[in-house]
This record gives sequence, C-alpha cells and structure tokens, in this order.
Amino acid sequence: MPIRKLGFVLAVTGALMFAATPVEIEKKIDALLARMTIEEKLGQMSQASFPSGLPQRARDEIRKGRWGSFLNGGTPQEKAEAQRIATKESRLGIPIIYGQDVIHGYQTVFPIPLGQSASWDPELVRRAARIAAREASSVGIHWTFAPMLDIARDPRWGRIAESLGEDPYLAGVLAAAMVHGFQGESLDAPDSIAACGKHYVGYGAAEGGRDYNTTWIPEALLRDVYLRPFEAARKAGIATYMSAFNDLNGVPASGNAFTLRQILRDEWKFDGFVVSDWNAITEMIPHGYAADIKDAAWKGIGAGVDMEMVSTSYYQNAKALIDSGALDPRLVDQSVRNILRVKFRLGLFDQRIQPENILPAQPAADGLEIARQLAAESLVLLKNQDNALPLAKSVRKVAVIGPLANSQTDQMGTWAMGGNRSAVKTPLAALRETLGEGRVVWAQGLRNSRDDNPAGFQAALETARSADVVLLFLGEEAALSGEASSRAVLDLPGAQEELVSEVLKAGKPTIAILLAGRPLTFHNVAERANAVLYAWHPGVMGGPAICDVLFGDTAPSGRLTTTFPRTVGQLPIYYDHMNTGRPPAESGPEATNKNTSKYLDLSFTPKYPFGFGLSYTTFEYSNVRLSTPTLRLGEKLTIRADIANTGKRDADDVVQLYTRQLAASLTRPVRELKSFRRIHLRAGEKQTIEFVLSTDDLAFYKPGGQLSAEPGSFQLWIAPDSASGQMAEFRVVR
Ligand code: NOJ
Repeated sequence: MPIRKLGFVLAVTGALMFAATPVEIEKKIDALLARMTIEEKLGQMSQASFPSGLPQRARDEIRKGRWGSFLNGGTPQEKAEAQRIATKESRLGIPIIYGQDVIHGYQTVFPIPLGQSASWDPELVRRAARIAAREASSVGIHWTFAPMLDIARDPRWGRIAESLGEDPYLAGVLAAAMVHGFQGESLDAPDSIAACGKHYVGYGAAEGGRDYNTTWIPEALLRDVYLRPFEAARKAGIATYMSAFNDLNGVPASGNAFTLRQILRDEWKFDGFVVSDWNAITEMIPHGYAADIKDAAWKGIGAGVDMEMVSTSYYQNAKALIDSGALDPRLVDQSVRNILRVKFRLGLFDQRIQPENILPAQPAADGLEIARQLAAESLVLLKNQDNALPLAKSVRKVAVIGPLANSQTDQMGTWAMGGNRSAVKTPLAALRETLGEGRVVWAQGLRNSRDDNPAGFQAALETARSADVVLLFLGEEAALSGEASSRAVLDLPGAQEELVSEVLKAGKPTIAILLAGRPLTFHNVAERANAVLYAWHPGVMGGPAICDVLFGDTAPSGRLTTTFPRTVGQLPIYYDHMNTGRPPAESGPEATNKNTSKYLDLSFTPKYPFGFGLSYTTFEYSNVRLSTPTLRLGEKLTIRADIANTGKRDADDVVQLYTRQLAASLTRPVRELKSFRRIHLRAGEKQTIEFVLSTDDLAFYKPGGQLSAEPGSFQLWIAPDSASGQMAEFRVVR
C-alpha cells in the first residue's frame, strides 16, 4: 500500500482523499499555467490512440508536450517510456494520463454490465471494479472509460449490454459502487484508477435503437431519468465524464453547453474534466452543428469539453481562434486546469509508481472468485416448469448442445480488451469438470450464433438422444452487442430455432441457457424448453457459475434490470412508463374496451417485467405496514414487510420497493423503484425487512432544474418485481 501523504477529505466531491489539499493543487496549477505556452495547453487538451511502437516522431511530440493523454494500447514498457519522456524530458514535466476501456474487468473479465446489474448487488459490483482497477493500474492504466451510465429503453441498441439497466435509481446505486471500486479510497493510491461517467448524456435514447442516432429528450425526462445515474456518480466523487456522440434536442452532446456547463459545472459543481468521445468534436460537422473543424473546436471548447479524443480540432484551431478574439483564452485555461487537477489528484505528478511487476499471466484467485459469484448472481431464471432445475448431480448423462456452450470469446462479452481467452471457463468445460468427461456428450449444432447451416443438426439430435437431459446454449455472440451493434430483429439469429426444433425430437427434458448482450425475443424456444436461464455474457467464470446454478449449489437470484419485450414491435418498452388517459387492462371488463392504449394483435404487457426472476424456492410477501398513513414534506416513512421463504431450500431474494404518486404537477410513472434489498433466507425462514423513505426520495425534477416532492396520494409496493407485490397507500401533506 502507498504511504499516504496528508490526507484531505473534500466533502463536496464525495469523500475522496487527495495527496495535496485542494488549495495546494490549485496553486501548483496556477504556477504551471503561468509557464505554459498555448501549444502546451492545447497539448494537454489532446488525446490520441497510443502511438503503436512509440516511434521517434511520437517521442519528439511527447517531449514537446503535444499530448496530454493516450488511450487504448501500448505495452506497459512503452507507456512507462513515454511517461519518462513526458515527465523528465518535456519542458514542464507534465505527466501523461493513460485511459482505456476497462468496462467489465481487465484481465479478469466479469459479466457485462447489464449482467452485473441483474445481480442487484452493489457490494459485489464494487469489488469487481476494484479488481479491475488493481489489474489495469498494474499495467500503467490510470483511467477507465467506465461506468457507462446510459439509460436504454430499447434493446435494439447494442450498447444496452454496457448499461446498468433501464432504471435510473438502480443504475445510480450501481454507478456509485463502480466509481468507489475503480477509484478506491484514495485516487492517488497506485491501485486506483479514475472513473469516467459516459456517455454524457442521452446517448441511450437513440431513435429506433440505432447506434449514434438522434435523441430528443424533454428536459424533465432528461433530468429525472437520463441524468440521474450521472448525478449519482457525481455524488460518489467521479473524476471525469465523457461527452456523447448523440445529437440531443438539436444540440450535439459534445457541444451542449446546457448539459456540460449549466448542469455539470454550475449545478453539480463538478471540477474534474470532460473528455469527448472518439471524434465527437469533429462529428459536429456531419451533425450539421459545426460548419468546419474550426467551428467544431470553438463549439467544443465553448461548451466545456476539456479534452478532445482522437480528432485534433482543438490543437489545430484554438490558437487562431484566440488570436482572432473569437475564443476567450480563459476557457482554454479552465479546461487545462480541470485536466491538471485530475492529474494531481491521481498522484501522477508525484511519480506515481509505475508497475514493478507486470500482471501475472493468469487472473488471480480472488478476482476469479468474485467473477464466479457475480456471474452466478447475475443469472436470471425465467422459467422452471415442474422444477426441471436444479439438476441432480447423479444425472447419468447430459447433452451439451449449441453455439454458445464453448465459445470463450463470446462468453467474455463486448469489452474484453485485456481479457485472456485461455483463462475463460466455458459451460462445456465446467460441466465436464463437474460430472466427468464421460457423462457429458457434446454437439455444437451450429458454428456460431449466426450460422444457418443445418449440417450439424443430425449429430446434435443423436447427442440429445444419448443423454438424459439436454442443455442448450443459445443466444447471440459478443459481436452482436456493444458499440455499433444494433439489431432490428431480436430473435435468435441464424438457425438456432431450427436447431432447437431438431433437438426437441429427442423428447428429453431440455434446459435453455441464453447468453446474450441484451433482452432477446427467444420466446418460441422458451415455450418449448422445460426451463430457461438467462446468462448474459457472463465473463471468465461464466461456465462454473452456470454449473453452480444448474446443479443447485447456488439458487438463482438474478432479477431483470430491463423489460423483456414480446416482440420488437413493442419497443420502446419500460416499466416506469406513464399511465396515459386510457390505460389498458389485462383482465376484467375493461380488457375488452377497444379504445385503450394497446395493440390489436398482441398484448401490451412485456414478456418478462423489470425486476423479475425465479428462484428454486418460493417467497411470500405479506403484512406491509407503514409507520404512518400521512406524513409531512420533509418527514420520513418507515415501511416494514414480512418476507418468508416458503420453499425447501435456502436462497437469496431481491426485495423491491416501488412508489407511485397518483396526481402531481407533472404526470408520474405507474411505478418507480425507490429502494431494494438483497436478502438471504433459509428454508422456512421469515424476516421482517424495513425500508425508510423520506419525502426527498419522492422528489422529481421540473423543467428548469427544480427538484422537489409534492404533496399528494401515493401507492407503494413491496414487490418481487415491477408487475406484482403487496400494495399500501399513504399521503404526503404540507
Ligand atoms: C467510443 C465509445 O463510444 C466509448 O464508449 C469508448 O470509451 C471510446 N470509443 C474509446 O474507446
């Protein structure tokens, strides 16, 4: 552990400890700024891909202070050498900050963020981020471009895989956990890395779910939903943000002074720095917002994007813009100050120790253990007809079939830059380990998820026939989710459904395990399988985790954090929608009323609601009681409920608290998640759990940024998911 110099707790930035006091840091920055040339300042505001092989030209540029930051690439040795040149041979010795996409683990690849969120386990998510920080920092990475905090309500958007689900509150809680994990207790500890909240803001609302597409988000919705996780990250002390690619209400997010200056700086008092996304500054030209790269630079700096990723409009144009009087040089100074402040906080000026020993070749045991637990907790049991699961370990023979049973790469998911394929334990490998080679028969059926060649079907059917139970590993490969990987059809790609039809001819109990980066519409398969387990892209220990759950060593406890549609035609679909003036009904006399907000050809309800997930046991919720039926603004409400494990085995449950305000100055969602608790209940055990809600938790944003709760009538649910639960009512008065 580092010897911490005089620690300093800064309340407004969320209890981060810095090596020097803020006042000392500002003085050091003053001194540097006074000596910096405009080129050196603009160099600090520039980030490029790491110059592969560190050629002479790059060395010369670093010596001149041309680059304040590099991203993604470079060996630890090259990074150390570039840093040596920057700190020892450049005029002012300003260190480089190295950024990289360490999104769901570095060497130890954890489940994709969407999978992590399904664990509803902030502490485990924090610990995973801590491992990622330890590994990444040991190869000289100072800064990760994570967490991604985009709310997505449309699974066609491939980047939903990188999100923490559709709910702003849950995403905020997990965002804070990740920030604490990456940044540790002290940003300047050698095993801490700076986090970056991205993509600021609105990126997840891409029209039609098409990546990079336009977003239109009214201010109340922007503040109440899309900004919430970013605000939670701010409160957790996040060091940086990344401005997004998207056009937001006619102003690209990377040139948007309203979100970047007014909200981020003036309202939230953020004092770290903002980096643009890749070329997002010059992409304001095709957006139709900047006339040319000079204009783009002017708009980017003007809006408050401190560092430009990859494109070079700032470096090329800002001096001329200042000379002509178009750009206020104080804006450049402010951006440089923000960047240097983070470099100081990270301890980069104090010769932050370069890794002595490079990362070991294989992931460490403690990280693998967390990866296994997190993967297990992220698995969501969606169907379990006649208790088809768990399987008995005494099963004679299992057939493992499908394109995702043994694909290391796909299992790692969308961002696995530092991941080591050979360390990945697939379901096939784990099953062989658990049962012994002889009891596992295997047929891939299709070469990958998109394959539509039936050549392997016959072998798959024979394999199924020879076994007592069939485990089908289906879904989508990693490349079908993540950036620039939107899909218009969410069915299982390739000939997977046909493969299933073929295998079902064997007439064996069949379990479908879905590996995917998003909610898929795999429902034909779900109907025909005896059980369905949703596994996301579960990372390096996905195989053992799936095995743990299949054989009941761990009871499934993951809960969906996105609404699963019946079909793409229902998109966008999300649980915290408004009621409309003509709400549809599922049953009762109103169900046949044509003039309600529904479809003629399909139910309006989702296939699986937000918050949903089965267990190997059953839970009963009862006796919801409130400390008072009426409370005043500013007061607190205590809610208690009894949760009983009414089944035969111990298990975790995720108890969810939702509220609804029935009338307000702006219409309110039919439900909003306000709190949750993951609890462990032994078979037969009953626990009383308690939530405390303050009226501040009921506050919502109005256009203009005012956040306040309003008096009125409320409903509240203690619930196992967003579509059921035990309801109680209360009133808030002035
Ligand atoms: C573009 C992606 O949108 C962003 O999430 C990522 O951090 C950067 N590229 C850097 O790789």
